Amino acid sequence: MASQQTVFMNHGQGETSYARNSSIQNADQERMKPMIEAAIAELCTANNGLSRGNIVIADLGCSSGPNALTLVSFAVEAIHKHYLELQQPPPELCVLLNDLPDNDFNTVVKNLTTLRRSDEPVVVTGVTPGSFYERLFTAESLHLACSSNSLHWLSKAPEDLTRNQIPAYDIDEHARRERLPLVVEAYANQFKKDFTLFLKLRAKESVPGGKIVVSLLGRRSEGISSKFPRLVEILLQILSVTASEGVFEKKKLNSFYVPVYEPSDEELREIIQEEGSFWINEMCVHGLTSGMDSALITPNRLANQMRAVFEPLVAQHLGDVMDEFVRTAEQRWSLEGSLQDEVARLATVAVSLTKA
Ligand SMILES: C[S@@+](CC[C@H](N)C(=O)[O-])C[C@H]1O[C@@H](n2cnc3c(N)ncnc32)[C@H](O)[C@@H]1O
Repeated sequence: MASQQTVFMNHGQGETSYARNSSIQNADQERMKPMIEAAIAELCTANNGLSRGNIVIADLGCSSGPNALTLVSFAVEAIHKHYLELQQPPPELCVLLNDLPDNDFNTVVKNLTTLRRSDEPVVVTGVTPGSFYERLFTAESLHLACSSNSLHWLSKAPEDLTRNQIPAYDIDEHARRERLPLVVEAYANQFKKDFTLFLKLRAKESVPGGKIVVSLLGRRSEGISSKFPRLVEILLQILSVTASEGVFEKKKLNSFYVPVYEPSDEELREIIQEEGSFWINEMCVHGLTSGMDSALITPNRLANQMRAVFEPLVAQHLGDVMDEFVRTAEQRWSLEGSLQDEVARLATVAVSLTKA
């Protein structure tokens, strides 16, 4: 059942770990840097709840490995730079990293101390396990919440589908096409519920004028033929081929739900405006690998990055199939240009918000 799905990325530092297979996500974090710097500049300049002389920063959905610290490091550096230029002592900082309880927090905690400096100012660090669809921080305590590559994960697969045993990805192509509008509607509704709740919760936890900077998998509003999440579709298409080769029973795919939705920038804008707690400073859509050296985007790398993200979820439902997944994915992208075509259809949406 989808309600029992446990979400986490591949643990540890081994070959298939998220820590070693997350360079595409790291490129997205790099693209968020200017938004984080702008948010910090505004926070430090305006009289935004800094009266108590400290700043609380959190990363929501930090996972493990080098990326867990990237966004908060951008923020800490920007704060140091800002106060250095002003020749004023910086405020004390509290840096909190959040993810679901099954995350590999062991690796995260070992790295967290790198944020503490021997010199002033004080940087206090901690982890806040739990779902970002629940309260995580005390009221009006948070100055900046950042999140990369995480908010496309839903709180659960849509119950309209799971309860009625409607496959998200029917192995019968005709049935799949017929049901597509119903399936995407269910996913879009779940995303709207989840993202609205996320905003309400963060609004309670943020100081007046508090900031949110997030980036998630998404799609461009214009020229889109299907709202079915593209990365999930690629995953399911590849799994479907491995099933045809007898690796697992194909019909198992009919009850496999990936709790991920890729909203368009317009969808996101509407939800934020309708919820009303934050105003939008900036929103942009980027190609998934925009700014990356194209030589680093190889069939093997993309397959392994997908494995690091989806393996725990796939294994819960389909068993130990990811070696075959990687082999099939590499084959799918062995034709010249096919990987580039696939990647060109994947995007992220980034948005910077201020508490109204
Ligand atoms: C692809 S990783 C992104 C990690 C890192 N932020 C990055 O950009 O590389 C997505 C993370 O979101 C976490 N996640 C998913 N749903 C979550 C939730 N409801 N609350 C907190 N974390 C969640 C997952 O456990 C996972 O570690």
